[in-house]
Amino acid sequence: MKRKLALFLLIAQWSMFNSQCSIASAQTPVYLDTTKDIEARVEDALARMTLAEKIDVIHAQSKFSSAGVKRLGMPDFWTDDGPHGVRPDVLWDEWEQAGQTNDSCVAFPALTCLAATWHPSLSILYGAALGEEALYRGKSMILGPGINIYRTPLGGRNFEYMGEDPYLTSRMVVPYVQGLQSVGVASCVKHYCLNNDEEYRHQVNVIVSDRALREIYLPGFEAAVKEGKAWGVMGAYNLYKDEHNCHNQYTLNKILKGEWGFDGVVVSDWGGAHDLDQAVKNGLDMEFGTWTNGLSEGASNAYDMYYLSKQYQKAIVEGKYTTKELDEKVRRVLRTFFRTTMNKQKPYGFLCSEEHYLTARLVAQQGIVLLQNEGNVLPIDPAGKKILVVGENAIKMMTVGGGSSSLKVQHEISPLQGLQERLKDSNCQIEFARGYVGDVSGSYNGVTTGQNLKDDRSSEALIAEAVEKAKTADYVIIFGGLNKSDYQDSEGHDRKTMDLPYGQDNLIKVLAAVNKNTIYVNISGNAVSMPWKKQLPAIVQGWFLGSEAGTALAAVLLGDVSPSGKLPFTWYESLEQCGAHSFGEAAFPGIWRNGEKKIIDEEYKEGIYVGYRWTDKQKLKPTFAFGHGLSYTTFKVSNLRCAFNETTDGNMTFKVDVTNTGNRTGCDVVQLYITDVKCSVDRPVKELKAFQKVTLKPGETQTVTLTTDKRALSFWDETADDWKAEPGEFIAQAGDASDRLTCKVKFTLK
Ligand code: GLC
Repeated sequence: MKRKLALFLLIAQWSMFNSQCSIASAQTPVYLDTTKDIEARVEDALARMTLAEKIDVIHAQSKFSSAGVKRLGMPDFWTDDGPHGVRPDVLWDEWEQAGQTNDSCVAFPALTCLAATWHPSLSILYGAALGEEALYRGKSMILGPGINIYRTPLGGRNFEYMGEDPYLTSRMVVPYVQGLQSVGVASCVKHYCLNNDEEYRHQVNVIVSDRALREIYLPGFEAAVKEGKAWGVMGAYNLYKDEHNCHNQYTLNKILKGEWGFDGVVVSDWGGAHDLDQAVKNGLDMEFGTWTNGLSEGASNAYDMYYLSKQYQKAIVEGKYTTKELDEKVRRVLRTFFRTTMNKQKPYGFLCSEEHYLTARLVAQQGIVLLQNEGNVLPIDPAGKKILVVGENAIKMMTVGGGSSSLKVQHEISPLQGLQERLKDSNCQIEFARGYVGDVSGSYNGVTTGQNLKDDRSSEALIAEAVEKAKTADYVIIFGGLNKSDYQDSEGHDRKTMDLPYGQDNLIKVLAAVNKNTIYVNISGNAVSMPWKKQLPAIVQGWFLGSEAGTALAAVLLGDVSPSGKLPFTWYESLEQCGAHSFGEAAFPGIWRNGEKKIIDEEYKEGIYVGYRWTDKQKLKPTFAFGHGLSYTTFKVSNLRCAFNETTDGNMTFKVDVTNTGNRTGCDVVQLYITDVKCSVDRPVKELKAFQKVTLKPGETQTVTLTTDKRALSFWDETADDWKAEPGEFIAQAGDASDRLTCKVKFTLK
């Protein structure tokens, strides 16, 4: 009997096991089941991981990658720079080039140009195109966009960011993030936060009022996270409240993850982690670029010495930490895996497709700013004319250099090449004169431009040649500005002055003196001083425009495209007009603490008065105003009105008419600024709270609808530690530049 019972039980057990197997094989593990909720998948994967596997995924394993979980079928995670193009591959553990021959990319215009388009739908295109290039290159996270506020025109990396205004930055960063992530590539919005200058970025401890933090420096990040649903945020090198921003209790745990509900990963800037306990507890999820033992320069393959590596694992095993913080980090990493590497639906991607070049051209054309055009000397009618092109920036490649955003491009069309190509079948004669010699180098991290810009002539000879040729030219177009070399718009250093380098001021003056049709095109990411502004008719701001620079500049200068860019920052006449430079060195670049070269305290004494907020308050007239930009036609912004002149919930809808009063099609950006007439705290004269770009044919009028909400009326109440809109009277003004507001309407918040 017993034998029969035992046999029966055995058979029953076996059939149970079998049925289990068949169910099991029919049932994909939850973490691999794409029909399951992502959180369920995260929890299931987490439960399956060993301690060692958990530690592996929260720190780098190479310069730009971190481990997946091979045993569970999760591939390694690859990041790459940068905000305006996918950086070429470097060696596993070096900054030097891997020497690939399949990683030449499209360089899109730097983000200051994207911001200058004031065209959010271009941002979506931009993000998606960049995402396709990243996918093709096997990258799951782009280390961008960069959106630090342009606090000073000396800021070395302003060219990578979106200007001085938090609202413009917010509106332009959200679609970029959405576009990029729409193809399954994570954004990594940087550098969070208060990384507004470069010189002492690793040591600076920023002191700033809560109002300025909330109203000026955080809104771009807040929008990227809450509206853009960014999957990644990069901590900044600098300190705030004496904690490095890569592991900062206040900015990461309290604000980013606590208040804003950020559910993605906080990635350290490379080498931005400095302390194990803070790295464990203060919001850091993925540690990259740490210099081995955290104390000195990196040693190859020393990833085991990272804070969130063996040290952390040992501390857990020894009971110093539970796995509470570790599991939270791993949840965020797993969520990122399911959004990227484990997302089987994401497209294959493309590199250097015609659509990507078209996107680069469009953004460049729409971002170029016509600053001045006396006598409508622009656009140039080239028929039968002789054009003299002058300047190193007419020929120098700009896609290499500037720091981590440096690129290896499939092609870069220089301004001179763009003009030559555009005019090759015309009867227009183009001549070139070097004019000045600036930086003849052309390499970064082993990527070289291949250009030989060497020219041993003296500056006198260079100027004499240009002057001689200018005397018989119909037009002179000077391409000057900065060039991403050290101290000239580059990571790691701030500029020392607003002045143009390499004797360009003198060159511009002498050429303007011999040719009345002298046009200056400034290539830079920052404003420069223009003492010769009144001595020449036309000035154009051409940004670091990327692969299609010359094509876009030629199109605008020759009138194929009417310029429609608007400045995303105030063009100060000099540093004396800038708030950051109005309170001594304590406000910029800061003062070394206790006289030691360890921490430099930089106090943003101008508070919320950044950019036009400052020049308005001080009643200063900058060279060019925030939001300024001319066109080859003219516009009228009029008849600003609102259906109801009072609101209880703070939501307002305005209508305004924009008319093309000129004789050719063009785009204008109608801008709406709000003034709080009476408030218990000091507030700016006006603040940008809505805008829209419109295209109009000659004589056409469009009525534009602009909406604002209660946040648009609010300031950060430091006592309540929250936003507050005080009832009372407000004024809305509209126009197409912050210094050209042509209509207004009053309304009341009940
Ligand atoms: C750099 C930059 C950051 C970049 C990272 C990786 O130091 O600050 O923007 O993404 O390191 O190159």
